[in-house]
Amino acid sequence: MVVAVANQKGGVGKTTIVVNLGAALRRLKKRVLLVDLDPQASLTVACGLEPEDQEESIATVMGRWLRGEEPNPEAALRRVRAGSLIPSSLELSGVEFELVTALAGERALADSLLPLKGKFDLILVDCPPSLGMLTVNALCAADAVLIPLLPHYLSIKALSALFETIGKVRTRLNPSLQVMGAIFNAVEERLLHTKEALELLSSLEERGLYLFKTTIKKTVRLREASVEGEPIFDFMPKHETCQAFLELAKEVLKRAQKGKAHPRQG
Ligand SMILES: Nc1ncnc2c1ncn2[C@@H]1O[C@H](COP(=O)(O)OP(=O)(O)OP(=O)(O)O)[C@@H](O)[C@H]1O
Ligand SMILES: [Mg+2]
Repeated sequence: MVVAVANQKGGVGKTTIVVNLGAALRRLKKRVLLVDLDPQASLTVACGLEPEDQEESIATVMGRWLRGEEPNPEAALRRVRAGSLIPSSLELSGVEFELVTALAGERALADSLLPLKGKFDLILVDCPPSLGMLTVNALCAADAVLIPLLPHYLSIKALSALFETIGKVRTRLNPSLQVMGAIFNAVEERLLHTKEALELLSSLEERGLYLFKTTIKKTVRLREASVEGEPIFDFMPKHETCQAFLELAKEVLKRAQKGKAHPRQG
């Protein structure tokens, strides 16, 4: 199953969730692949790799697709602590530019990942903070979308544009795309019971959006772990956030099962 972790708003925790959810799923014995689809390459760095040193990346894979060659994604696989990774590089910006004018450029990632689908239980795609061609590629390749959110009103307001894009992708490119749900990230406990938070919850429910029961608290340890290039499980194995990510992973697996039974619900 391919899961796009998407939100065009910057800094909501897409990359943090991909690394640590990936590591948690791996601890649950799942075969996990992380794909860095952001030219900023934050996921690559958070996995302990230098983007400049990568001869093969998602950019070279999609570059081969653009030239009509075999994408050969196996060549770009790297072993990292959170699982397997296809890294990113700055060249991905150039690839995005070319995809815009390529015939069926929306399908480049979906086609490129095809040879890997049977080899992994879950493929998590880290999207850039935009609704451009790269995010559309992720939505086209995905079975489901996971939406990290900060528990603030402005963060929820930005969802309309994301849902509009998801709707268009469903109609025109990928009818089986589901919305798996939204995850509150960087939650401060004392804010959870405020009027604002309660209003947020009801506005999400009105949209029919599933909100994950597990939330990720605000903690500087997550930032420190990503600077070290490690999942929180390796950086601070006893930290309470490890337990939260394991709970989140179980909830994701449960939602994934449910999605299979009712493909259009979300
Ligand atoms: N729960 C959290 N508590 C504290 N800091 C966090 C938390 N989640 C993420 N951060 C920090 O916030 C910053 C943004 O997070 P992250 O890079 O995961 O967001 P993003 O949505 O991927 O950003 P971008 O849109 O730029 O790709 C990072 O420095 C990260 O370490
Ligand atoms: Mg990111």
